Amino acid sequence: MSNEVIVNKSVTYVNNTTPVTITSSEIDLRSCYQDDEIVIEVHAAALNPIDFITHQLCNSYLFGKYAKTYSRDYSGVIIKVGKNVDDCWKIGDKVNGMYNHIYGERGTLTHYLVLNPAKDIPITHMIEVPKDDSDPYDDFVYAAAWPLTFGTAFSVLNDFKRDWNSNSKVLVIGASTSVSYAFVHIAKNYFNIGTVAGICSKSSIERNKDLGYDYLVPYDEGSIVENVKKLKQSKLENEKFDMIFDSVGNHEFFPVIDQFLKPKEKNSFYVTIAGNNKADYKNITWRDFVSLSLVFTALNPFKKYNWRFGHPSPSNNFIEVGNEMIKNGTYKPPIDSVYRFEQYKEAIDRIMSNRAKGKVVIKMK
Ligand SMILES: NC(=O)c1ccc[n+]([C@@H]2O[C@H](COP(=O)([O-])OP(=O)(O)OC[C@H]3O[C@@H](n4cnc5c(N)ncnc54)[C@H](OP(=O)(O)O)[C@@H]3O)[C@@H](O)[C@H]2O)c1
Repeated sequence: MSNEVIVNKSVTYVNNTTPVTITSSEIDLRSCYQDDEIVIEVHAAALNPIDFITHQLCNSYLFGKYAKTYSRDYSGVIIKVGKNVDDCWKIGDKVNGMYNHIYGERGTLTHYLVLNPAKDIPITHMIEVPKDDSDPYDDFVYAAAWPLTFGTAFSVLNDFKRDWNSNSKVLVIGASTSVSYAFVHIAKNYFNIGTVAGICSKSSIERNKDLGYDYLVPYDEGSIVENVKKLKQSKLENEKFDMIFDSVGNHEFFPVIDQFLKPKEKNSFYVTIAGNNKADYKNITWRDFVSLSLVFTALNPFKKYNWRFGHPSPSNNFIEVGNEMIKNGTYKPPIDSVYRFEQYKEAIDRIMSNRAKGKVVIKMK
């Protein structure tokens, strides 16, 4: 066997009745890519809830019997370049990005990722993360940890409301999530938003204060709505929010939304990235995401507020904004834990615990 024919190992599943497992396939590095593609030797990949959510929703009759690969975020080194690829991508370049797919045969929890850098965006050259000597993580870990969460947060703030200023006020439901970590840093340091209030567990309040939230209220002590009402009266001169951003799956503000969100004529938005209900990660059903109430909220033409479903949109160039913020020290990707490739089950358990503070990253080597 030539040393250009290698065994590629990936973390995959077939459907919701099959467990996640490591599968191997032989690939010939001389011929496994097209003229417009590159081959990346993956060094690290990050997990996101979307992976085990799509796994649990994967019905074999609907989604085929092929092996589907985990993960979207990656970092690695280019080892092959097709002859029609733009010459900004060279062998030896360190790159990171978000490889977008749903039920893709290709995913990023794999040793070798083949993609088209003109189409499979965002992809970027890796930026060195400012670190001190005690920093336990290398640049590949950091680089894999941020594109999807940062891109989601940036797109929510950038794509709907355009007139942010120092008087703007935002409420974040789920202040501890990785997406909200990026959200508060972008809100404060890029859009210069004056007030960002967050809702998190009582035990996370101290941790989240350091991230830049102006105010934090608990979701596990008293009523969420009452807690935010008290905050609004005591600290915000009873002013309403310009945006309510939900990174958890919540519906408690809808019946009283006119008390909390400015009128839609003021260009205010309610944005969710997780639907109307908090999913039970160990037992996910389609109803968690496509509930009647969500469909009604999305389609009701008479609702008195702007409602949007947020997702990362690579066309807004969030990857460049992320690079800039990492370089100037205003955003550092949060890492919860790092696992070896063979420990993929522990890594998935950690993110499924719903207690991670930052990204769960898997190192391939
Ligand atoms: N639409 C999209 O394109 C998109 C993109 C990315 C993510 N998402 C979705 O966004 C959500 C967040 O993703 P993520 O990766 O940022 O999450 P994550 O980092 O895994 O979130 C973990 C944190 O959630 C908090 N949490 C748990 N239960 C909560 C509750 N009932 N209320 C408020 N906070 C709670 C916990 O902190 P506490 O200590 O505060 O409880 C925990 O530290 C997921 O549902 C994910 O699927 C959607």
